[in-house]
Amino acid sequence: MAKLIARDGKEGAMQVCETKEELRKQRAAMTGRVGLVPTMGYLHDGHLSLVRAAREQCDHVIATIFVNPTQFGPTEDLDSYPRDADRDLALLRAEGVDAVFLPTPAQMYARDAETIVEATDLSRVLMGRLRPGHFRGVATVVTKLLNIAQPDAAFFGQKDYQQLCVIRRVVRDLDIPVAIHGIPTVREADGLAMSSRNVRLDTGQRAAAPALFAALQAGQAAIAEGRTIATARARMRTVLSQADGADIRSIDIRDAEDLSSVTGRPTRPVVLLLAVRFGDVLLIDNIVASPKEP
Ligand code: PAF
Repeated sequence: MAKLIARDGKEGAMQVCETKEELRKQRAAMTGRVGLVPTMGYLHDGHLSLVRAAREQCDHVIATIFVNPTQFGPTEDLDSYPRDADRDLALLRAEGVDAVFLPTPAQMYARDAETIVEATDLSRVLMGRLRPGHFRGVATVVTKLLNIAQPDAAFFGQKDYQQLCVIRRVVRDLDIPVAIHGIPTVREADGLAMSSRNVRLDTGQRAAAPALFAALQAGQAAIAEGRTIATARARMRTVLSQADGADIRSIDIRDAEDLSSVTGRPTRPVVLLLAVRFGDVLLIDNIVASPKEP
């Protein structure tokens, strides 16, 4: 049976693969269930919760660190997106990850690459309206990572709820043989969802940012009380309008399963989604709410 051999010759140590070929070789040496945790790096406890879920459910874990240029718009924060590969590798090593894929953009995309993957409808609603092309970039890179790593299961955060819906749809539509797991959002003590972008908030913005979770909880309570979508949305807006510097980009309430529009009093679980800008930092968060039993 093939064994995982580290560059230093030690069996079982974490492999760092910079090319697709190296990763494929490592993958071929893995037996049992393989879990994939795709990330853009600058890891926090939210990412590590994905790694831990993968470790619990799989025999081997592959993590990827790649700040994917194709999911950033021309005016977005690709260049300023935080990066710290050495720290990330130390964290992944401590979590017992077997292999890390750390490609360059040139390694991932041929210069004349022209093939894209897109869940056409799901990608154009909600955040897709604010970030045209974003979910096409995500769907394309995730499909490539699944093809390269060939995992049995892949783990994504529920914090990026629409991304999770898009990835599930792509995997279903393209018959990709992988189980997709959505892992609950990890929050700071004050409720702010963990995100690599949080480090870019200044002190005042950081103090105001927990208003996202407070607004989501207010909306969730309204739905649980049997109120309408309009009332839940108004309550969320009221909470956010009291947060210093919060520029509300979107407040949406959609069917939790397929993100379709919902009006009046919901009869099935809904997802409440927020996008709020503090300065040039766009924060997103969501919560699922179940309506009162009739
Ligand atoms: O959620 C992320 O970090 C990214 O969108 C992903 C899934 C790694 C694709 O680049």
